Amino acid sequence: MKALVLAGGSGVRLRPFTHSTPKQLIPLANKPVLEHVITHVRELGVTEICLLTGDWADAISAAMGDGSRFGVNLTYLRQDRPLGLAHAVQTARPFLGDDDFLMYLGDNILADADGTVAGIVGEFRERRPAAGLVVQKVADPRAYGVAEVDTSGSVLQLVEKPTQPRTDLAVVGLYYFTAAIHGATDAITPSARGELEITDAVQWLISRGDEVVARQYSGFWQDVGRADDVLQCNRWLLGELRTDVRGEIDPASELRGQVVIEPGARVVRSCIEGPVIIGTGTLVEDSRVGPGTSIGRDCVVRSTHLSDSVVLQGAHICTPRGLRNSLVGRFATIGLGEEGDPSYRLVIGDHARIQMTVL
Ligand code: G1P
Repeated sequence: MKALVLAGGSGVRLRPFTHSTPKQLIPLANKPVLEHVITHVRELGVTEICLLTGDWADAISAAMGDGSRFGVNLTYLRQDRPLGLAHAVQTARPFLGDDDFLMYLGDNILADADGTVAGIVGEFRERRPAAGLVVQKVADPRAYGVAEVDTSGSVLQLVEKPTQPRTDLAVVGLYYFTAAIHGATDAITPSARGELEITDAVQWLISRGDEVVARQYSGFWQDVGRADDVLQCNRWLLGELRTDVRGEIDPASELRGQVVIEPGARVVRSCIEGPVIIGTGTLVEDSRVGPGTSIGRDCVVRSTHLSDSVVLQGAHICTPRGLRNSLVGRFATIGLGEEGDPSYRLVIGDHARIQMTVL
């Protein structure tokens, strides 16, 4: 079996980060989103993986390499325009051949700590339905593919982003397919949003009488679309880390909970309350770093209270009032203004977002 990981999306809702980096490379618990995805694919027993990229092809291949670091073999293909998930399958046909495959949306985080997803995929591999879907009950299914499923788990109907959903079962971004899907992707026509929808291709299989099954997964699932999604995924993935302290902690500092301090990081006169990860080469001084926080490599965090936040490589932060639920980009600086000047001074990038409390 092979795997197709889709990493072509542009990440408009994650600007300004996605002006300089694809959303699939945004770090969660100090590892790019795609690294979490690829590691999961490997845990599902698949090592022949095609990464289908778009405009950010070079950045993604530079970051992920040939896959040997993750114990997989990566092949890169490019989708010139974002014409839909079924178009992505067509584009990857030279890699897929007639093999069964998993399709994994490269901005989806599934934390499969208890192996539920692995169990579902194992069942699909054994049973080999034309298509196997993973579904999850959601409060508002209108933003997803929505499945109607009978008591045995056979899918009766599948609709993309319905305005009046018939069920609350959303299609998760991990699919199992046999070669039957190729006939379907060739048979369908573009949807109202101009895309060849994988949902329509699967519905085509159902209409033809092919077996399409769905299994429910109720563990953590989130696609990384907006800043809040990044923070939520980060928090979840941090919770799965085990304490590992290899950096320097001075005697005046205190560590609580699950904390990862990478080699070469320094913690001075500070309190770190996990789950937290602090990257190599970073200095945390006179600060409190609270739960749900990832700090990348080579940062300086001084006289700050930081919680539920993601700080990327090389950032400098000094803000005694603190930061919460924040995303700080690479080499960004947040510091104190001139003494006696009550106003804020900002030099911020395009599409940046700032929220301040008025005192
Ligand atoms: C895509 C699929 C949708 C699925 C969702 C999961 O939606 O079209 O069926 O439920 O991924 O993340 P999109 O992200 O393109 O809006």
